[in-house]
Amino acid sequence: MSYRDSKVVVVGAGKVGSTTAFSIVNQGLCEDVRLIDVDRERAVGEALDMGDSVFFMSRNMSVHAGGYDECADADIVIVTAAAPMPKDSNDRLEMLRPSLGVVRSVVEQVMASGFDGIFLVVSNPVDVMAYYTWKVSGLPRERVIGSGTLLDTARLCRALSDMYDLAPASVEAYVLGEHGDSEIVSWNSATIGGKRVDDVLRDNASRTRGVTRDELRKRTVQAGWDIFSRKGNTCYGIASSTASIAKSILFDENRIMPVSVYLDGQYGIRDTFLSVPTIVDHTGAKEIVEIDLLPDELEALRSSADLLHALDERLQ
Ligand code: 2OP
Repeated sequence: MSYRDSKVVVVGAGKVGSTTAFSIVNQGLCEDVRLIDVDRERAVGEALDMGDSVFFMSRNMSVHAGGYDECADADIVIVTAAAPMPKDSNDRLEMLRPSLGVVRSVVEQVMASGFDGIFLVVSNPVDVMAYYTWKVSGLPRERVIGSGTLLDTARLCRALSDMYDLAPASVEAYVLGEHGDSEIVSWNSATIGGKRVDDVLRDNASRTRGVTRDELRKRTVQAGWDIFSRKGNTCYGIASSTASIAKSILFDENRIMPVSVYLDGQYGIRDTFLSVPTIVDHTGAKEIVEIDLLPDELEALRSSADLLHALDERLQ
């Protein structure tokens, strides 16, 4: 993989997939972007539209619709295809059954092309879909990454930065576990400008306005639904989050990110995918970082894993 001939295929040209592809084009992250969708004309239309933007970009890129044969020499395949979320739902897990068939079909067709790169799974419920992608693909575990709680982490950091009128990047905090209702916040490692978040909450009462850690976690979990209930999807946050993971892979950045990866004993958790701090480089999930969690945080993380494990077993 090199900056010059890198290629990303996005499967699913719906709101999330096309916005993710455009984020990649807009940031000039690779040479070739390919869009695959069951609705071929939809993929062609999105690719043509995105192609019009290349004139304004920092580098020349090729954006086209294609078939699964395009995956043979792809560095990354981003899986966004999924069954539609039921309108009245507020639980990503409800997408499990209908999305399984979609993701299985996608992964089998990608692998049939001779693909030997990295899967970046976005389809919800993402942790289970990442596990399933790994199982069906047969790729080494480090070559399957779920977008996980990186987006939730961004939402938490923005909530905290809004409270104190700071740049979100000045907040270092992790949301870990399931990308969903059982996700946890590692308050033990959360800082703002190097100061523990607990101390910031306490020492800035006029701006904290009584907001508690629990309230912040609830807002983070609810954030996706606050958007979904108004516009029927979310796309910009998840697209930017996914492009950020792709960038760490394509540019070999070795960034530590809370993404959904296979755990094999880390944090006392085995045989499931969920989000923990992970070094992401050109090989994929290069290494899991085991941070110090408070006993209740570790217990909650393991509970999140138990929930996902139960779902994974239902898939066997
Ligand atoms: C979200 O939380 C799409 O699950 C994703 O926005």
